[in-house]
Amino acid sequence: MAAPSGSWLRLSKDGVSDAFIVSKVLPTNASRDGTIKACEASLKRLGTDHIDLYLLHWRGRYPLADTVEAFEALRQSGKIGAWGVSNFDADDMEELLAVPDGGNVAANQVLYNLARRGIEYDLLKDSQVRGIPIMAYSPLDEGRLMRHPDLIHIAKAHQATVAQVALAFLIRNPGVIVIPKTAMPERVRENRATVEVQLTADDLAILDRAFPPPGRKMPLEMI
Ligand SMILES: NC(=O)c1ccc[n+]([C@@H]2O[C@H](COP(=O)([O-])OP(=O)(O)OC[C@H]3O[C@@H](n4cnc5c(N)ncnc54)[C@H](OP(=O)(O)O)[C@@H]3O)[C@@H](O)[C@H]2O)c1
Repeated sequence: MAAPSGSWLRLSKDGVSDAFIVSKVLPTNASRDGTIKACEASLKRLGTDHIDLYLLHWRGRYPLADTVEAFEALRQSGKIGAWGVSNFDADDMEELLAVPDGGNVAANQVLYNLARRGIEYDLLKDSQVRGIPIMAYSPLDEGRLMRHPDLIHIAKAHQATVAQVALAFLIRNPGVIVIPKTAMPERVRENRATVEVQLTADDLAILDRAFPPPGRKMPLEMI
């Protein structure tokens, strides 16, 4: 699900039928040859010849330059459409952008939700300036946000759902994409319809009181 400003993420009208395949390589496999082998094994397991977006799951011991070289080879052969990273903090992104072709990174998938706003201090702004999409994982805090009284109150005022308010808070940021997990098609549609929900300045003030933004650098959290 993309921010209203648009991105490369495809969505059909009902938000269900058009799949955008994202897969990841584990850092332990992320050598030059290991990345290519891992991707080919994923293609086989998925029964497809193309992965839309292929991510390095988190930083490991292999030089980023080697992983990026493999990603570029996979992209040129058409096995992947784009590559990105996951769980990269601001300093990791600096290092990535310094390696050859590092600037081709298409997304950084990180933990971001109302209860975990640490990236707003630096990573989010840096990414926006550079035009690198942030893919917010666990955007509903693994479902825990559903019970929050302020979210319930704001949802009622908008005739929206609590999940939509939590997601609207994230996608109001240009360049932020959310990937709420659900196995229920009606919830996929509900989550997709978040793009219709516009939070007001009063809503945002309530949310800032309940979930204060970071006042200092916090190391990127991972789950
Ligand atoms: N890159 C990484 O290191 C990393 C780490 C963790 C997670 N992730 C990815 O992040 C994605 C989502 O994260 P997550 O599963 O941890 O947490 P999440 O999306 O924040 O929360 C998922 C929970 O919310 C519920 N839910 C979804 N839509 C709802 C709705 N409209 N109303 C009420 N409940 C709703 C789901 O229940 P139902 O299923 O019953 O609907 C599920 O219990 C996954 O695709 C996962 O692969 C990535």
